Amino acid sequence: MTKLAIIGGTGLDEMPDLEITHREVCHTPFGQPSAALTHGRMSDREVVFLPRHGASHMIPPHLVNYRANLWALRHLGVETVLGVAAVGGITSEMGPSRIIIPDQIIDYTFGRDHTIYDTDLSHITHIDFTQPYCENLRQELIEAGRLCGVNPIDTATYGATQGPRLESAAEIVRMERDGCDIVGMTGMPEAALARELNLCYASCSVVSNWAAGKVETSINMKDIEKNLIHGMDQVKSLLVTLLRLRAH
Ligand code: HPA
Repeated sequence: MTKLAIIGGTGLDEMPDLEITHREVCHTPFGQPSAALTHGRMSDREVVFLPRHGASHMIPPHLVNYRANLWALRHLGVETVLGVAAVGGITSEMGPSRIIIPDQIIDYTFGRDHTIYDTDLSHITHIDFTQPYCENLRQELIEAGRLCGVNPIDTATYGATQGPRLESAAEIVRMERDGCDIVGMTGMPEAALARELNLCYASCSVVSNWAAGKVETSINMKDIEKNLIHGMDQVKSLLVTLLRLRAH
């Protein structure tokens, strides 16, 4: 089995189940990753952990150095990357604290460094992105989720917005019309860069709130945090099960 990296999002800035062996500061042609990479073992498997928003959660979604993060992981010999992310729920099944393993993406972000192919222009590389997530990893996550009782939703379209503000109700209506089931701010360009670097990448999304306009009340941070605590507990047990399955 290949070495797994976990990119933690809001609510998962550290991995309590990881027995840490060492931390590694990396420099890449694109600058520095969000934090030192944490190496360790979980369920007897080697894991690398990287908090997307920095060790003390200071980097907003639009300023994450996605290129440095993915490049650093690739150059450490990682082949499989799981991006954990908090999202808003748009369609009816995507309620707070649900775990979603999306299978499609629509990108609404702008102005982000979204490719590694903008320095050497001697050849243009158009990656195939028909299926934006690695199906093998998606199936492993779905199986692990079922085994540990989390029952993730196994098909959904992730709409990636620019942030850091949340959306207007009309933007969510438009996203739903486009086919989005969930909305988050970090899914792109992370997934596309992973594909450019030939990494097997999938997302484990945790619903922290109903998206704008889906409920009468305004979105508040207290409810988001409460839903995320429950959601991330489920993610942690899913991850332990995933790694146990990978150990065989
Ligand atoms: N919108 C965008 N990103 C998010 C949301 C949301 O409602 N919730 C968590 N991340």
